[in-house]
Amino acid sequence: MCGIIGYTGSANAVPKITKGLEVLEYRGYDSVGIAARTSDGVTTVKCRGRIGSLEEKLERNPIENCTCAIGHTRWATHGGPSDVNAHPHRAGRVVLVHNGIIENYKVLKEEMMKKEVTFLSETDTEVAAAVLNDCYAETGDPMTAIRQATAKMKGSYAFGILFDEFPGEVWAVRTGSPLILAKGQDGYYLASDMTALLPFTKEYYCLEEGQLAHLTPTSAVLYGSDENPKVPDWSITAMTPESAQKGGFKHFMLKEIFEQPEAIMKSVSPRIVDGLPNFSADGITADFWRQVKNIQIVACGSAMHAGLVGGRLLEEIAGVPTSSYIASEFRYHPPLAVDGTLVVVISQSGETADTLAALRYAKESGLPTVSIVNAVGTTIAREADRCVYTYAGPEIAVATTKGYCTQVSVLYMMAAAIAHATGRIDDTEARDLARSIAEDAPKAVLDMLERSEELRQMSARLAAREHIFYIGRGLDYAMSQEGALKLKEISYIHCEAYAAGELKHGTISLIEEGTPVIAITTEAALYDKTESNVREVRSRGAYVIMLCREDAPNPETSADEVIYLPTKSTAASLFAAMTAVQMLAYETADRLDLDVDRPRNLAKSVTVE
Ligand code: AGP
Repeated sequence: MCGIIGYTGSANAVPKITKGLEVLEYRGYDSVGIAARTSDGVTTVKCRGRIGSLEEKLERNPIENCTCAIGHTRWATHGGPSDVNAHPHRAGRVVLVHNGIIENYKVLKEEMMKKEVTFLSETDTEVAAAVLNDCYAETGDPMTAIRQATAKMKGSYAFGILFDEFPGEVWAVRTGSPLILAKGQDGYYLASDMTALLPFTKEYYCLEEGQLAHLTPTSAVLYGSDENPKVPDWSITAMTPESAQKGGFKHFMLKEIFEQPEAIMKSVSPRIVDGLPNFSADGITADFWRQVKNIQIVACGSAMHAGLVGGRLLEEIAGVPTSSYIASEFRYHPPLAVDGTLVVVISQSGETADTLAALRYAKESGLPTVSIVNAVGTTIAREADRCVYTYAGPEIAVATTKGYCTQVSVLYMMAAAIAHATGRIDDTEARDLARSIAEDAPKAVLDMLERSEELRQMSARLAAREHIFYIGRGLDYAMSQEGALKLKEISYIHCEAYAAGELKHGTISLIEEGTPVIAITTEAALYDKTESNVREVRSRGAYVIMLCREDAPNPETSADEVIYLPTKSTAASLFAAMTAVQMLAYETADRLDLDVDRPRNLAKSVTVE
């Protein structure tokens, strides 16, 4: 949603803040700012635009002798992108940066205005600063003021805070939005996620819900619901600065697509013991699986699409009734929870507010929960009863690829594990399934990536169009959903996924001469049906690109272009198709010279509902 960062120590703070903000820009980039503590007090520099705009301001008017600062890069919620709405926000003796949303900010704003407080911006954050300053004016104590102020707030927040009377000190508090502390050789840091701090240190601590932190140049102290201070239990991250950089690729998205083979292997191999699917390392035993009679998958966006694909695999392989729900809808139409219901929430970032809210609803309803998360130590990972991590590594591009891909691979392995635990498949079948996921899938991705030039050529037929359709049946319809989202979110071309058999019931009226239709047909049993749907649209002028198995009967007679998929296993054809739709989206957006890694209007992690 937004990115916040802070530092206090013995080194020059300003370059640390700006360097960290460059990494955090993927969380939101419509405005940016820094509050720097010097002997003259706290200087705030902020503006609409990306980090480069702030750096230009700082070059013109450098901030000298600063060893304590906080910074922010914004994805607008309350109040559009503007200099005045940019963070940090000052109110009286308090300056803060905020990630999240204060849901009751209007009520609090009215209360402050009755106290003669005036506001410059349209943001909920400035209201939070005013409430905090009001409490601070009464108590004079930062920690007490933070406790009193946050007790008045509803919603989600991660704050980095400076108080005028406490030079060199930074306070932090989090509820509902992520916040990391870190310990460096030259001081202490806070940030929305660890990737921003990798250039400085590998020692980190994830603040827990409701936890407060007090940073000085030589110390970091935590305060929980009680008053007892404690020192963070520091962990060492496995990430490296390089893993958060592009590694020679033109875009993070392309790098992350190419990382998929390794990401799949890292994500599934911990779940294979003696060749058999096994989630005991995640605290999930065969007995646990045997109790599962019904699965509700809940997620947003691409994670939801991974759930659609995984849900079909769970039903087809494990025979467990599985439904997938959009997280923001889940609470308002809660599905009937029969005995043996398991709720599986999926989130790459582990901080998506809609998904977190659905998880909390499921837990309040007394349902067992498992989360599938990529970002280690995040809220969704920690609040679910059990967490199955995808080990895809940091995903920087806003459009997820390896995050989605590894979510599908883990769901695939879960289906194999459940089928084996319930005796639906024997050891031999289970071993073969596990092998296909761990070996055929990565190889299929690699082989498809070797055909990148072919896919780039195809993107020429897509880039100039206004409307594009994906069609498929069964598992392929589920896959089409992600293909459509990937394409539209980075190329800005309207793209829709449609059940192949449903198109003729109305929407086919939108097909015009040259309208691209991308047909996915990995399921051999459904090929003929989808092929006839292809003929229907082609006879009305559509330009058809068909993804089909190498053994499909004469696809060239019905499609304009064909992308052949391996037939070695379902996993092979599925992951090949997945890679093809990702590359078609990437190549189309790149051909249009768009900002592939940071598409307009989007953010990597949407931590507001
Ligand atoms: C993916 O390309 C999109 N950027 C978006 O749909 C994303 O999948 C969704 O916001 C869910 O994010 P999460 O996996 O971090 O919860």
